[in-house]
Amino acid sequence: MSSDPSDLFEAVDPPADIADALAASRGRRGAFGAPLFYFPTIGSTNDVAARLAGGGAPEGTVVAAEAQTLGRGRLGRAWFSPPGAGLYVSVVIRPDAGGRAATAGTALAGSGLPAVLTLASGVALAEAIRETTGLQAEIKWPNDLVFERRKLAGILAEASAQGAELEYIILGFGVNIRPVAYPPDVAQRATSIEAELSRPIDRGLLLAKALEQLSGCREALRRGDVGGVLDRWRRMSPSAVGARVEWRTPGGAVRGRTAGLGEDGALLVDRDGRRERVVAGEIVWL
Ligand code: BTN
Repeated sequence: MSSDPSDLFEAVDPPADIADALAASRGRRGAFGAPLFYFPTIGSTNDVAARLAGGGAPEGTVVAAEAQTLGRGRLGRAWFSPPGAGLYVSVVIRPDAGGRAATAGTALAGSGLPAVLTLASGVALAEAIRETTGLQAEIKWPNDLVFERRKLAGILAEASAQGAELEYIILGFGVNIRPVAYPPDVAQRATSIEAELSRPIDRGLLLAKALEQLSGCREALRRGDVGGVLDRWRRMSPSAVGARVEWRTPGGAVRGRTAGLGEDGALLVDRDGRRERVVAGEIVWL
């Protein structure tokens, strides 16, 4: 495989805050964070990670950048990624050898690893933000990180398959660390960790803890503890119960009240006296 992309891209040594935090956490994050490719500016870390994964890069390979010129979010949106404002990180995940699904025997078995990883990645990042900064980040279904209903971070999970066989998943994290002039369409709904705390944070520590938590979640899923990961998700998502929300259906936008996270990872919602399941897309708080 071409896991050294220096001929293709301009990877550099990570800055000292990131290098030091990763060195200190080496024994606690399994294979996550090695190798790590760091770029001053790149199109999208997810694209580079996918290219590396396609070339055989192992699970835990990380691509991080100071800035992205083509950062992308969920649902075809752009992800504003100016220098010095956030963490832009992608992690390669591989299915277990022999195709054993981490979700075998659970309600998630049909939708498999991508579905549960989408939720697990939110758990890992929320716990990392809470532990390293003290900010009580919450999860908005499926895996947005919010504080007082404003978005702190988003996660883009992209899977690649060869036929029916899952090849790899790229988990891309965008974390708003410093306040910046957000584009008008997101300014009302976005915030940053430092804006909420009114003090600087150690982004290296946050990255190292996120990789530790992700490694822990991955191991939990490997052990088959999907229920434990979903319970951690529930504890950090108060808005998954009792919040008035709107969501899109093929017939148009509809409204209801959240009623918890299903065993299959769907968001349960009560609408006109009926319980429904939201399995994809996003919800808007009313
Ligand atoms: C969302 O829409 O909430 C998901 C945003 C994901 C952004 C991250 S930044 C690192 C990685 N590279 C990308 O192009 N996107 C993800």
